[in-house]
Amino acid sequence: MSDEIRKDTTQGKIKDFETKSQALKLMGGEKQIAKQHEAKKLTARERIDLFFDEGTFQEVQLFVQHRSTLFGLDKKEIASDGVITGFGNVNGRVVFVAAQDFTSAGGSLGEMHAKKIWKVMDMALDARKPFVSLNDSGGARIQEGVHSLEGYGGIFYRNTICSGYIPQIHAIMGPTAGGAVYSPALADWIFMVKNSSYMYITGPDVVKAVIGEEVSHEDLGGAVAHASKSGVCHVVTESDADCIEKIKKLLSYLPDCCDNPLPLSESSDSPDRLCTDLDTFIPDKSNRAYDMKKIIKSVADNNEMFETHELWAQNIVTAFIRMMGKTVGVIANNPRFYAGVLDVNASDKASRFIRFCDAFNIPILTFTDVPGYMPGTTQEWAGIIRHGAKLLHAYSESTVPKITVITRKAYGGAYLGMCSKQLGADYVMAWPTAEIAVMGADGACNIIYRSEISKAEDPAAKRAELAAAYEEKFNNPYFAASLGIIEEIIAPRDTRKRIITVLDALKDKKLSRVSKKHTNIPL
Ligand code: HXC
Repeated sequence: MSDEIRKDTTQGKIKDFETKSQALKLMGGEKQIAKQHEAKKLTARERIDLFFDEGTFQEVQLFVQHRSTLFGLDKKEIASDGVITGFGNVNGRVVFVAAQDFTSAGGSLGEMHAKKIWKVMDMALDARKPFVSLNDSGGARIQEGVHSLEGYGGIFYRNTICSGYIPQIHAIMGPTAGGAVYSPALADWIFMVKNSSYMYITGPDVVKAVIGEEVSHEDLGGAVAHASKSGVCHVVTESDADCIEKIKKLLSYLPDCCDNPLPLSESSDSPDRLCTDLDTFIPDKSNRAYDMKKIIKSVADNNEMFETHELWAQNIVTAFIRMMGKTVGVIANNPRFYAGVLDVNASDKASRFIRFCDAFNIPILTFTDVPGYMPGTTQEWAGIIRHGAKLLHAYSESTVPKITVITRKAYGGAYLGMCSKQLGADYVMAWPTAEIAVMGADGACNIIYRSEISKAEDPAAKRAELAAAYEEKFNNPYFAASLGIIEEIIAPRDTRKRIITVLDALKDKKLSRVSKKHTNIPL
């Protein structure tokens, strides 16, 4: 008698199942895997192994196959139809995932590939857990024609339904071209890997054919281009492993869904810690630059922050920090870049961040040092009115606890735009260095005292004298404090302590708006 297990026995069937599963799990096979590694990319399965806590990944629909018969596909097997889907634990919390595998038909998206993604997105929505997509795909599977397009349509629809309900994070870890870029674009966060990922509507060849422009993949749609020029990419990463690590870090700040509590981390920092470094931080001359990130880090638990859009619209900072272990979203002008002015990109960057925080009940902390909106034709024609309005809208509609700290300049419309009291800030604090006014002293005097200055014997001396009087009246926090526009003037060293106290007081804030379908944010 042979030791071989007969196929028609129970043992034989189990063995057959295991053999088939193992073969499928190899995805595109050894040769394609070697090619993937040569390109300094991990396979989808290796990425999943890095992402989930060991032994927790549960694969869904491993045995799905395409059913296309056109253009030779009837003779081509594509393991798991080129995408691994499932769920598992990330630092103990459930997350759903779709990971496209470039080793199987270039991770191209056909009908069944898309349906697998629909399935895990639907599960994530029903289970109210985050959805993460690891993209590495040649785009719509050309042989499947309109089936592929339908597949994308169903994904876009689900991205939109999930928006504001569960966090959605996309990592671009290889090609993402054509309509495929819009699923990431509809999600909350896009991570890209330097030198091995790119996103564009059309690649360099089409660009050359249509408009005659010559450009490389990397310059057109690489991580740095999208992180610094277009603002499409929120986080640039160095490698696949770094990308996975950073996604896990971001997830650690986020709740599972919009009405679940925020994750609470153990904090080794003290609520009473004084930030004495901040007392000497603001330069004596108010036109000198400083780096706002140092203030954010100084007040944050263990001086840690997770910055998004680090390289784009650097005149405003958006970041997550923790205060006594709980997530807080920070929006802050950064005088180190263009004096912290508000422009089109800064307004877009901050507005989207505010709306994310509000959707997921993350309190908003704003640091203000803003000289105004950027003037000039470039900004006007780019629609600073339309884009700047987003910021007013986003702050006004948000109902989470909102705390504002004015460190220095808070001028004009930009003062209002940076979460002023009238946009619904619950608590506004100002440092003694704050200047809360319609505009800076020189500009104001040039307008209100124009004729007086021009008639003066020494116009420069007269302007200086009038500007000093204006500064004494308005370029300080006391006039605003006397009107109750700010709640408190605080010493910089007390900033962390005061924020923690106010956040604690506001932790049960509940605000409802008039009932309607949704607002109509200026876009
Ligand atoms: C079918 C595809 C594919 C696709 C790649 N493959 N893209 N199969 N449909 N879209 C297959 C290749 O035939 C090859 O199969 C394997 O994947 C690996 O691809 P290579 O070309 O060998 O890899 P590489 O040299 O690294 O080039 C990668 C690439 C290139 C630059 C992404 O494959 C490419 O240009 N692909 C087409 C990109 C594209 O135009 N996509 C359609 C966009 S339109 P074998 O069997 O040889 O291993 C779109 C519309 C969506 O997406 C609209 C939604 C609204």
